[in-house]
Amino acid sequence: METKILKPTNENIILAASLLKQGEVIGVPTETVYGLAGDSGNKSAIEKIFKAKGRPNDNPLICHISNLEMLKRVVKEIPKDAITLAKRFWPGPLTIIMPRGKGVCKESCAGLGSVGVRMPNNIITLKIIELAGVPFSAPSANISGKPSPTTAMDVYEDMKGKIPVIIDGGECEAGVESTVLSLLNNTPIILRPGVITKKDLEKALSKEVKIAKGVIEEISSTQKVLSPGMKYKHYAPKADITVLEGSLEEFCEYVKSHSDESTYAMCFDEEKDSIPIPSISYGKKNDPRTQAHKLFSTLRELDALNAKKVFARCPQKTGVSLAVYNRLIRSAGFKIIDLKNKNKTFC
Ligand code: TXA
Ligand code: MG
Repeated sequence: METKILKPTNENIILAASLLKQGEVIGVPTETVYGLAGDSGNKSAIEKIFKAKGRPNDNPLICHISNLEMLKRVVKEIPKDAITLAKRFWPGPLTIIMPRGKGVCKESCAGLGSVGVRMPNNIITLKIIELAGVPFSAPSANISGKPSPTTAMDVYEDMKGKIPVIIDGGECEAGVESTVLSLLNNTPIILRPGVITKKDLEKALSKEVKIAKGVIEEISSTQKVLSPGMKYKHYAPKADITVLEGSLEEFCEYVKSHSDESTYAMCFDEEKDSIPIPSISYGKKNDPRTQAHKLFSTLRELDALNAKKVFARCPQKTGVSLAVYNRLIRSAGFKIIDLKNKNKTFC
């Protein structure tokens, strides 16, 4: 199959909507990362998504809507907190887990009784959903295990020959996937951090929001997980990444004595000149939004450079930085070295 990258003209938006209606799977832009979209109510479209990504079929997809009427079709009941959050954050990078309704087939949710829903903040994609008149399920449009795509070309790299169309909406703004929040229990719980933070959610809801255990540490294969996505290795380029915790001086000293010609450093923009080995920067040191924006494109760039070993500077672990930290430690297979105590942890 030929895969076309199309500009978001009216004509192409109409084409994208009709492909979705016909049960095809297409690449679409969102404000977070590109998605691989298929009609949420069409079992065969959902199967195509899992196949194109090589995704384990116990990992549920997020359902994307364009208005609140659609929400009623995809969930069984709308918790009060969901209404508060939808008013505050939608359209935007927040996925809310609620009881699954009839408008989403069970295959899309990996058989679970719940569904994650979000309204993406991207005008092209909102128009596509509106025209199709059906919500679509969409995981990030990468091959499972690889970094999420933030440009149409990234999608093309992973999906060429597998899908008919990718709509090119330019570079994604956020660069990391949505915050996933479960409202299935009394206390809301963050299953995946994103640019909407715990603090933002607590402020909107005027109550405590918890963060699931698997967000900053590895879940063992025998532990019960709240979100199946937590179990899998993610976002990994071909290179072997290690996250080094410590000061810039400690980082430089360590990489000097542990590198060969195919080793790269991932550092912050301001630090590039101080690093004694070839380096790529992934955003400003004290600006986690710029780090989120560049993280996945940096991981893909390392592949293009044929990097074999990568040492990464460690981001903070609070606010928006938590989303960056969460993705980076997964791309490193949880390999973190504490340079102060010289501890190697597999957290
Ligand atoms: O920003 C995003 O969320 C992007 C764009 C395309 O919207 N989508 C995305 O989808 O990141 P995906 O499939 O790559 O990640 C969805 C995550 C997975 O970790 C999955 O396990 C979790 O959300 N998830 C989805 N439905 C769930 C459910 N019912 N219960 C628990 N976790 C769920
Ligand atoms: Mg993904």
